[in-house]
Amino acid sequence: MKLLPIISAILVMFMCFCSTKPGEIILIGSGEPSDFLEPGDSWSSEEGYLESTGEFFLSLEQGIPKGEFQMTLKMELENLECFLAVTAGDNKLGFDGLWEELPEGLVLEGPSFHRTFRLGVHPGDVIPVKQPFLLNISYTDGLLEYHIDGKEIFSETVVNEPFGRVRLEGWGEGHYLRIYEWTLKGDLLPVDQIYSREDLLARAQKSVNKRAAEVKDDPNRPIFHLQPPANWNNDPNGTLYYNGYYHMFYQHNPFADHWNWMHWGHMRSRDLVTWEHLPIALWPSLERGEEHCFSGSAIVNKKGEPMLFYTSIGHEDPEHWVALPRDEELLEWEKHPANPILTIDDHKGDVIEDWRDPQLIHEGDQTLMVIGGHPEDMGGSIMLYKALNEDLTQWDYLGVAFSGADENWECPNFFRIGDKWVIIYSPHGQVNYYCGNFKLSDYKFEAEQQGGVDLGENFYAPNTMEDEKGRRLMWGWIPGFKENQGWQSAITIPRKLSLTEDGRLIQEPVEELQALRSDLNHSDAFFLDEGLLDLEVPGPEFEMIAEFADIRAQSFGIRLNLEEEGEQFEISVEEGQLHFGENEISLEPYDLGKNLSLRIFFDRTIVELYVNGGLISATSVVYPDKENPGWELFAEGGALKVNSLDIWKMKSIYK
Ligand code: FRU
Repeated sequence: MKLLPIISAILVMFMCFCSTKPGEIILIGSGEPSDFLEPGDSWSSEEGYLESTGEFFLSLEQGIPKGEFQMTLKMELENLECFLAVTAGDNKLGFDGLWEELPEGLVLEGPSFHRTFRLGVHPGDVIPVKQPFLLNISYTDGLLEYHIDGKEIFSETVVNEPFGRVRLEGWGEGHYLRIYEWTLKGDLLPVDQIYSREDLLARAQKSVNKRAAEVKDDPNRPIFHLQPPANWNNDPNGTLYYNGYYHMFYQHNPFADHWNWMHWGHMRSRDLVTWEHLPIALWPSLERGEEHCFSGSAIVNKKGEPMLFYTSIGHEDPEHWVALPRDEELLEWEKHPANPILTIDDHKGDVIEDWRDPQLIHEGDQTLMVIGGHPEDMGGSIMLYKALNEDLTQWDYLGVAFSGADENWECPNFFRIGDKWVIIYSPHGQVNYYCGNFKLSDYKFEAEQQGGVDLGENFYAPNTMEDEKGRRLMWGWIPGFKENQGWQSAITIPRKLSLTEDGRLIQEPVEELQALRSDLNHSDAFFLDEGLLDLEVPGPEFEMIAEFADIRAQSFGIRLNLEEEGEQFEISVEEGQLHFGENEISLEPYDLGKNLSLRIFFDRTIVELYVNGGLISATSVVYPDKENPGWELFAEGGALKVNSLDIWKMKSIYK
């Protein structure tokens, strides 16, 4: 599609809009289409309507401000395969898939809704094919309504007032789309006047607060794992110690319990034990074309200023942006005037794909940044950059410091422990690490050791930081809870990282977490002959440490009943294999010695396991049978000596 004629036509349209008074009906689509939109390659207009047979995109550069509006579209579709979306005030009515086969019907989503609405079984049930139909969208007195041919498909008083873009877009093969009329009643304003930092943040926060009240008593929500007050989170971001507080930021969709509209949520703690929720820190600057604030990290620059670095999505290519705090408590943030501080064109001719997730370190007198992705002809890599100024807004690309075999690496963390260097990366599967050497003389990493970081089902995209005690701390994202509950995902307990002499990663829960323990139930050494022992756990939130010695049993371990009838979750050892639910972990690479210690953190629906002081760790989401969790210890094919067994009740981390 030729953009130029369309853009110039859209400009003509705007001039019309600008001359209309607020509240006036604007008719933009009947009669001669060329009056307002010159047909490009895939548009024709011979019969008095706009027709597209390819990709189409009609965007009013102006948007709907807060307040009432009504929008009507008279359209006709045939054989639309793929994608169509009508955006009105940032809410979208769309479908994505095959006209004939789409199982989920039309989809309505956006900041005004708490969840994605699926309308109808098949788009054809709602939208007539090959016949003009009227789509009506209105917002009056807090009521948002969608009608197709007069039939109501959505009508609700919504939490978030719609404002923002007006847009029609789509693409596909072998279809046509005709637009006969497009009318809008209401003011239109340039988007930079509609989207203010304050409004965007207030809208996001309001949505979370409303939902928080609804989910707070959900018995499946963990109590000593970090989570937003409601709705979706993914990766931990920007972990930082500053001015007496540990700060945790995280990928957050404030509007629904699924991924979208990435903001950065924020929490803080003085002691890694008790946490408090803070206002949302970063929001997509829609007026600047930013649609998501993707993952990133924090650093205090050499001038002593904390800074957040992240990947800004919504532009032609990803960009790297920086945010600065407005106050010493880091409660409010603003985007740096120098953004973008790094673009895809800054790679001295290298073509980098899937470029995202910056992480920073000071090393000697240099400040370095790694970003994930991969050069076009290579596997997952860490791209390395060096700061050229103290403000950390100018960077020099130093090349690829290390590459692996996976297709892509997300969320790389690159840091030193003692004189060894570690890369932790998320390759769209199990999170892994390399340990080795790195020199500032050539900026290349050489691997000596490698392994898996967390061997459970539900662990991804960890973020690390160095604290004031010189510890390297790590938190990971725990996905995989039930859907449509008003919340989704959590973050692991903080783990302190260290290395064995041969460069294996050790992850230990930080010692501060002992402050969450209460009501110890301790057992001295005992033997379990072949058979079962019921374990007395103090409820659905506990920590357990079981030390085993003199192991003769062929298989032994701990299990509990799951919600699904007859299903159990087992943490057990058999013939050199550790079973952790569905995961089978070979113990061979680990030098576990004769004794085995299993440390389990169980938090309603999360199980985190640490074996022998953190040589192995594994995280999974499980839904226990609440009435009869039936925790038990078992030994088969021989006796088992339990050196000690300690179980503590765990307290909530929230004030
Ligand atoms: C990892 C990831 C990152 C990206 C973020 C977006 O889970 O895909 O690569 O920045 O999530 O939310």
